[in-house]
Amino acid sequence: MKTLIVLIAFVAYGAIHLTGFASSFNVSPVAAPIVDSKVQPKGEIKLAKDSKHETWGEVAFNHETHSLKNYNIEGTGVIACIECHHTDQPGPKPPYKTFERKVALTTASLEAGSEVVKSCRTCHFQEDSGKKQPTLTYEGESDPTELTNTEAYHRNCNTCHEAVKAKRPAANAPATCDTCHVKKA
Ligand code: HEC
Ligand code: HEC
Ligand code: HEC
Ligand code: HEC
Repeated sequence: MKTLIVLIAFVAYGAIHLTGFASSFNVSPVAAPIVDSKVQPKGEIKLAKDSKHETWGEVAFNHETHSLKNYNIEGTGVIACIECHHTDQPGPKPPYKTFERKVALTTASLEAGSEVVKSCRTCHFQEDSGKKQPTLTYEGESDPTELTNTEAYHRNCNTCHEAVKAKRPAANAPATCDTCHVKKA
C-alpha cells in the first residue's frame, strides 16, 4: 500500500512537471516558436514569421510602444493589457466569454503572480492546422466564425488601426497589407 501511494505521488509529480514544461515551451512543429512566457517582449519583434501566404510574410510589432505609450485610439492613454490578452482577466467581457485569471493582467499582477501569459497562437491556430479553432457568432450572422490566427490578429490589430486612422489621419498605424506585412520575394 505504501509503495502504491509513493508511486501515485511520483507519477502525479511527474505529470505536473511535464505539463508545466509543455506549456512553457509550446513549440509548433513547423517553425516560429510560440512561447507562453512571463517576459514582455522588448523592442520590435516579428509576428507571422511562418506565414504560409504566398505574398505576405512577417509583420513588425513593438510591444513596448503598444503597452507603454499613449497608443489607444484617441492617443490619450495606454491600451490595457487585457484588450489584447483577453483571456487574462477575471470575468467575461462581451463579446469574450473565456477568462482564465483571478486578477486582471497588468505589469504589477504579472510580476506578483506565477502565471505565464499565453501566446495568441496557443489558442488561435493557422487555417489548415486541423486544430479546433475558437469561435464566435457575430451579430447578424447565423454561423460561427472560426477565429484562426489571421482572424484573431486582424480583428485585434486592424480594427484598432483603422479607428486610429479615421480619428487621427497623421498617426503611423499601418492598416494595409503592404504596410504591415513584408512582401515575400
Ligand atoms: C495591422 C497589421 C496587419 C494588416 C493591415 C494586415 N495584416 Fe495580415 N497579419 C497580421 C498579423 C499580426 C498576423 C498574424 C501573425 C501570426 O500569426 O504570427 C497576420 C496574418 C495574416 C495571414 C496568415 C498567415 C499565416 O499563414 O499564418 C494572412 C494570409 C494575412 N495576414 C494576410 C493579410 C492580407 C491579405 C492583408 C490585407 C488585406 C493583411 N494581412 C493585412 C497583421 C496585419
Ligand atoms: C487561452 C486561449 C486564448 C488566448 C491565449 C487568446 N485567445 Fe483570442 N479568443 C479565444 C477564444 C476562446 C475566443 C472566442 C471568444 C471567447 O470564448 O472568449 C477568442 C476570441 C478572440 C477575438 C474575437 C473578438 C472580437 O471582438 O471579434 C480576437 C480579436 C482575439 N481572440 C484575439 C486574440 C489575441 C490578439 C490574442 C493574443 C494577444 C489572443 N486572442 C489570445 C481564446 C484565446
Ligand atoms: C496591442 C496588443 C497588446 C497589448 C496592449 C499588450 N500585449 Fe503583451 N503581447 C501581445 C502580442 C501580440 C504578443 C506576442 C505574440 C504572442 O506570443 O502571442 C505579446 C506578448 C506578451 C508576453 C510574452 C508571452 C507571449 O505570449 O508571447 C507577455 C509576458 C506580455 N505580452 C504581457 C503583457 C502585459 C503585462 C501587458 C500590459 C502591460 C501587455 N502584454 C500588453 C500583444 C499585446
Ligand atoms: C488598441 C489600439 C491598437 C492595437 C490593438 C494595435 N495597435 Fe499598432 N498602433 C496603434 C497606434 C495608436 C499606433 C500609432 C501611434 C502613432 O503614430 O501615433 C500604432 C502603430 C503601430 C506600428 C508602427 C510602429 C509603432 O510601434 O509605432 C506597427 C508596426 C503596429 N502598430 C503594429 C501592430 C500590430 C501587429 C498589432 C496587433 C498585434 C497592433 N499594432 C495592435 C494602436 C494599436
